[in-house]
Amino acid sequence: MRAFLKMKRQLISLFALLLAATVPVFVRSLNPSLSDDVLGLIVFKVDIQDPKGKLVSWNEDDDSPCSWAGVKCSPKSNRVSELNLDGFSLSGRIGRGLLQLQYLRKLSLAKNNLTGTISPNIARVNNLRELDLSENGLSGAIPEDFFRQCGSLRVISLAKNKFSGKIPDSLSSCSTLASINLSSNRFSDSFPLGIWSMTGLRSLDVSDNSLEGEIPEGIKGMNNLRAINLGKNRFSGKVPDGIGSCLLLRSIDLSENLLSGSLPGTLGQLSLCNYLNLRKNSFSGEVPGSIGDMKSLDSLDLSANRFSGQVPSSIGNFQWLKVLNLSANGFTGSLPESMVNFANLVVLDLSQNSLEGDLPAWIFKSGLQEASLSENKPSEHINNPFSSLKGSSFEKLEFLDLSHNAFSGEIASSIGVLSSLHLLNLSRNFLIGPIPATIGELKVLDNLDLSENRLNGSIPLEIGGVISLNELKLAKNFLSGTIPSSLENCSSLSTLIVSHNRLSGLIPAAIAQLTNLQNVDLSFNNLSGNLPKQLANLPHLLSFNISHNNLQGELPAGGFFNTISPSSVSGNPSLCGSAANSSCPVVLPKPIVLNPNSSSDTTSGSLPPNLGHKRIILSISALIAIGAAAIIVVGVISITVLNLRVRSSTSRSAAALALSAGDDFSHSPTTDANSGKLVMFSGEPDFSTGAHALLNKDCELGRGGFGAVYRTVLRDGHPVAIKKLTVSSLVKSQEDFEREVKKLGKVRHSNLVALEGYYWTPSLQLLIYEFVSGGSLYKHLHEGLGGNFLSWNERFSIILGTAKSLAYLHQSNIIHYNIKSSNVLIDSTGEPKVGDFGLARLLPMLDRYVLSSKIQSALGYMAPEFACRTVKITEKCDVYGFGVLVLEVVTGKRPVEYMEDDVVVLCDMVRGALEEGRVEECVDGRLQGNFPAEEAIPVMKLGLICTSQVPSNRPDMGEVVNILELIRCPSEGQEELE
Ligand SMILES: *[C@@H]1O[C@H](CO)[C@@H](O)[C@H](O)[C@H]1NC(C)=O
Ligand SMILES: *[C@@H]1O[C@H](CO)[C@@H](O)[C@H](O)[C@H]1NC(C)=O
Ligand SMILES: *[C@@H]1O[C@H](CO)[C@@H](O)[C@H](O)[C@H]1NC(C)=O
Repeated sequence: MRAFLKMKRQLISLFALLLAATVPVFVRSLNPSLSDDVLGLIVFKVDIQDPKGKLVSWNEDDDSPCSWAGVKCSPKSNRVSELNLDGFSLSGRIGRGLLQLQYLRKLSLAKNNLTGTISPNIARVNNLRELDLSENGLSGAIPEDFFRQCGSLRVISLAKNKFSGKIPDSLSSCSTLASINLSSNRFSDSFPLGIWSMTGLRSLDVSDNSLEGEIPEGIKGMNNLRAINLGKNRFSGKVPDGIGSCLLLRSIDLSENLLSGSLPGTLGQLSLCNYLNLRKNSFSGEVPGSIGDMKSLDSLDLSANRFSGQVPSSIGNFQWLKVLNLSANGFTGSLPESMVNFANLVVLDLSQNSLEGDLPAWIFKSGLQEASLSENKPSEHINNPFSSLKGSSFEKLEFLDLSHNAFSGEIASSIGVLSSLHLLNLSRNFLIGPIPATIGELKVLDNLDLSENRLNGSIPLEIGGVISLNELKLAKNFLSGTIPSSLENCSSLSTLIVSHNRLSGLIPAAIAQLTNLQNVDLSFNNLSGNLPKQLANLPHLLSFNISHNNLQGELPAGGFFNTISPSSVSGNPSLCGSAANSSCPVVLPKPIVLNPNSSSDTTSGSLPPNLGHKRIILSISALIAIGAAAIIVVGVISITVLNLRVRSSTSRSAAALALSAGDDFSHSPTTDANSGKLVMFSGEPDFSTGAHALLNKDCELGRGGFGAVYRTVLRDGHPVAIKKLTVSSLVKSQEDFEREVKKLGKVRHSNLVALEGYYWTPSLQLLIYEFVSGGSLYKHLHEGLGGNFLSWNERFSIILGTAKSLAYLHQSNIIHYNIKSSNVLIDSTGEPKVGDFGLARLLPMLDRYVLSSKIQSALGYMAPEFACRTVKITEKCDVYGFGVLVLEVVTGKRPVEYMEDDVVVLCDMVRGALEEGRVEECVDGRLQGNFPAEEAIPVMKLGLICTSQVPSNRPDMGEVVNILELIRCPSEGQEELE
């Protein structure tokens, strides 16, 4: 038995292969015992792909196919009578296997992906009654003799394929055909005339092809016809009177052809017809009154023709009518009263005609869902369209378009009862008055267009209640007031057009919450203020027109705004940014205004017109934001930390050399090849104690990036500080060194430590400085020198004196490069004296690495541009260091504090506190509240400004001095400015 089955399977496979090319008769004679049906179906299966495995039940070992998927057998003959494989996702070609199925009555392969042409004899099956190949990818022309032997075929559908060429004339020889569906193919040429005499035909659908021809008078013989669809072709000529004889017609679709002439009066005889679509032809003349006899109509579309005259009052007879589209014709006069009888109307489109008169009240009384009366041409203003909103059954209205008419009056607040409205278009009328607040009750409204009217008042806050809103168009009215921020509730909003009104105030930041926004037009209003930065986050913007307003400040950066067109922003004189074609004075937008008369730390955006009276306003470069968080460049920290290790080995060998040179300090000025050259700028060099003290460890005052400092006393008892440079290998030639040192020696200021002389040998350089007795600011602040902490007044003097010294240095074209609290010395009177200035000039080149490692060794004072090779180092790096110093003096905290698991950067901390409105808490607790807040807060703000990341945003030291003086003496400052 097994062996037999195996042999059978092999045989079938062999036949299947053979069958693709040979005739079936041959196969049958080979093996008459095999079921023809199994064989035919298996062969069919071999030819197609079955990606979803719908045909797995088709097993060649079965004796009967009757239980296979999609297969039905006739109970009498036990032969296959129906094959229904609709939607099986099959692809490939329809092979010849099906020709085996002699008893097949119905073949349906619709909704698959079958391709290729169809074989001329697929339908040459005597018994086939129904053939449905619709919705596949079949192509090519239908062979002319395809229908020659169509036997008892009753239904054929080839719809939605890619068949082309002419419809074969042979089709009309299939006299048994009741239904022909050839729609949505590429058939062209003339439509076979024979079809018009197929009197048994009930349904003819050839829509959506490119067929030509006229409908002959002979159509009157087709008295079984129930549905005819010739839509979307090129049929031309008139509709013959004969159509009125097809009394069973229920559906007539002649839309989108080239038909012309007037409608035959005989149409009225089609009293069973419920669907008549004549859209987009060239029909003309008046619609015959007899049309009213088509009493079963539920859909009438006469749109986009050239009908003229009055709408016949007989249409009031259409009591079942659901859809009436008369749009885009030349209908005139007023609507017939009889239309009040429409009890079932759902869709009414009368747009684009020349109708006149009032809006009929019945529009709101029926169960209408869509009503468009747009673009009619009334001769005079029509009354308020909503006067009649007092019935009860208008809650179904979803779509109301009354645009482009001459409606006048106010929009009644009863509009709120139209609770199902999705679209309300009242644009281009003469409506006046305000937008009623009840608009907010339209919860499902997604499209509101009130543009081009004469509406005034403001946009009601209640607009935020229209939560489904997608498009809001209010352009070209007289609306005033602000754009309500309640719009943020309309989260689906994609189009917002309020241009050409009188809107004022700020653009609410809430708009930036509307992430679906695509098209925004706010142009031609009086909007003012800055644009909310967050607008740049809107992900779907396609257009954003804010031209011709009074907006100011900077355009948002990023997103859509990087590519916004200049025309969208023009006409705002104070707006800046690249698209606005004017560069912004400041990079960051939030201006800081120092108010020395106020202890409040709020930053104010409004600048008083008179600069002198109450407030002190920084110059443009100082008007900068402090909002943006400072980025402490990691590289800066790491470089600085690396270089905390001073070169101790070099110091030691240098010290040894200095010892041996010691005795020669007593000659002046002296040049000695062994001992070096000593120069004192003022008077006699006079070292009483000699050089041994110079290098006495006990006399060491401190060490810095450039070397150790020692105290010694001149013979006249005048003490000096001597700095032994530890960077000798980097120092320039003697000539250069001397030139630079002499220059530094000329710099004299009461707040600078004076350079009094120098000593030179190729391997050792000493700088001789004025000795300042009070210790460094660092020690005062952080080591509590003498147990006393600095008072507020002392701190202020130190800040001011330091600022003056830097201003003086900058005037002399000297950059300090190394401002930090350990370089600020305090003299006996409490005045600060800044030392260590300009030493970088002694180096052969201002190498940044050298600068940052040798000089800026003090963590936290270094301006961020040091880490950035492309930014030029200017005196603004001193301003940065000064800013840090200011904060250090006020808060008593180090620029960078290492906590257990955290690093606190002073300026970030103060900046954060300022933003949170608690900057006062930053002031050194050791002052125990003994400080005037009206001085301390502006001073801290000034410190923050000085530590701006962008050098150009830092004020220059001259300005800083002025500001500080104003802060300290507000009353004097006022007098001066007046
Ligand atoms: C139909 O077949 C074509 C060609 O094999 C393929 O590109 C297409 O995706 C298929 N379509 C469907 C709906 O399976
Ligand atoms: C013709 O076939 C198409 C596609 O299957 C179908 O949508 C249409 O309703 C059919 N026409 C008629 C009159 O049945
Ligand atoms: C009425 O017909 C016009 C033109 O054919 C069409 O654009 C419009 O969408 C139709 N109206 C409705 C409500 O379907």
